[in-house]
Amino acid sequence: MALLTKAPKGTQDFLPPETFDWQVIENVLRDEAVIHGFGEIRTPVFEHTELFQRSVGETTDVVQKEMYTFTDKGGRSVTLRPEGTAGAVRAMLEHAMYNDGLPIRLFYFTSCYRYEKPQAGRYREFHQFGVEMFGAADPIADAQVICLAKSIFDRLGVKNLALQINSIGCPECRAKFQDALRAYFESHRADLCDTCLDRLERNPMRILDCKNPSCAEIAKGAPHILDYLCDSCRDHFDGLKKYLTAAGVEYTVNPTIVRGLDYYTNTVFEFVSTDLGSQGTVCGGGRYNGLVEELGGKPMPGLGFGLGLERLMLVLKAQGIELPAHPHCEVFVASMGDAALLKAFQMVRELQKCSVLAECDTCGRSLKAQMKYADKIGADFTIVLGDDELASGKAVIKNMKTKEQRKIDLSESIADQFVAISTEAEDLAF
Ligand code: HAM
Repeated sequence: MALLTKAPKGTQDFLPPETFDWQVIENVLRDEAVIHGFGEIRTPVFEHTELFQRSVGETTDVVQKEMYTFTDKGGRSVTLRPEGTAGAVRAMLEHAMYNDGLPIRLFYFTSCYRYEKPQAGRYREFHQFGVEMFGAADPIADAQVICLAKSIFDRLGVKNLALQINSIGCPECRAKFQDALRAYFESHRADLCDTCLDRLERNPMRILDCKNPSCAEIAKGAPHILDYLCDSCRDHFDGLKKYLTAAGVEYTVNPTIVRGLDYYTNTVFEFVSTDLGSQGTVCGGGRYNGLVEELGGKPMPGLGFGLGLERLMLVLKAQGIELPAHPHCEVFVASMGDAALLKAFQMVRELQKCSVLAECDTCGRSLKAQMKYADKIGADFTIVLGDDELASGKAVIKNMKTKEQRKIDLSESIADQFVAISTEAEDLAF
């Protein structure tokens, strides 16, 4: 029986103060996406299973082995999204967003679900920041999408992240490549896993990203797609390189990148970190010029990327990149007796309305225990209220770092007095 106090394998809880780091990162991602002209889209956590079968592809690891698929009470087969692109394309079509002008630029934060073998940087529930751009066929769009990811990493101060690019061509030139691959893998048939034997017939390119060690070893000697590109696909790839160079974005061409999802055409790319071991791909994406049509729309080029947030956090940690500290209690209003607690409650309320992080007792603690608690949560200032303070209308506010004390007037605005005192303390600290 499952242990009820343990999260399911491959999932994690995110707790404060760590969640504050996530908010900081998410704000940077959101901000950069908006600066680059993208608008946020939110789609359901589950979709019709067929959406992923048709887009991600029947012969991919994701569809064959990793999807969380179930039949709902109405007898429909639904799947927890293993990635964000399919849902974004479905929503774009459902709402005919193309009527509002092209290109369409969307970004999203999603939880994704894949039944994979958990390890550092690989989870069954993980989170992606993703962007999708529709209606732009020129390589300038590929460069802009890659530049967005680059701006994010630069702004966060992430180092040692290598951009690797490749082109996997269009269906025409890929057909020739698939023939060459089939011939190559046919000669290694005996050493392929059962899934890859099936892929050999249906989609030999998928053997290139099989995680089985024997298949991976054979894949090392396989032909490269770049040797099979048609003129138009080669021009597109050259165009991307030209724009990346013009933007001052360093890259290497890695002809072994094919990506693990079937919808890609032409450009594919990954940002790979040396800090994460085998799960080093922090961000991956590319173009998918046939996907919109595959899902029932009119032909429309598309492209985008998915950036794994857990992996990004791991890289930031590994590189010792400091994020802003978690906001903590600025003033704790301690009290003795019911009347003082009521006054403390009112003062805290006023402070909070003025965006001051303030707290008072909510656990019926003694004054001594309240002061211990204020110390534990690192309150910058404390105020003590008792019958004497209520009677005199005056109380003392104490700077917990410098131990300096000031009188405050309980009949005046506590927020105004606190802001003046804390600003003065900050100025002195500088
Ligand atoms: P993907 O390469 O499957 O692409 O995933 C994108 C990123 O999600 C990866 O680079 C990695 O950082 C993270 N990721 C993937 N699987 C896991 C996992 N099991 N645990 C933790 N992190 C993981 C896509 O999903 C495409 N939809 C990206 C895209 C958007 N292409 C075009 N538009």
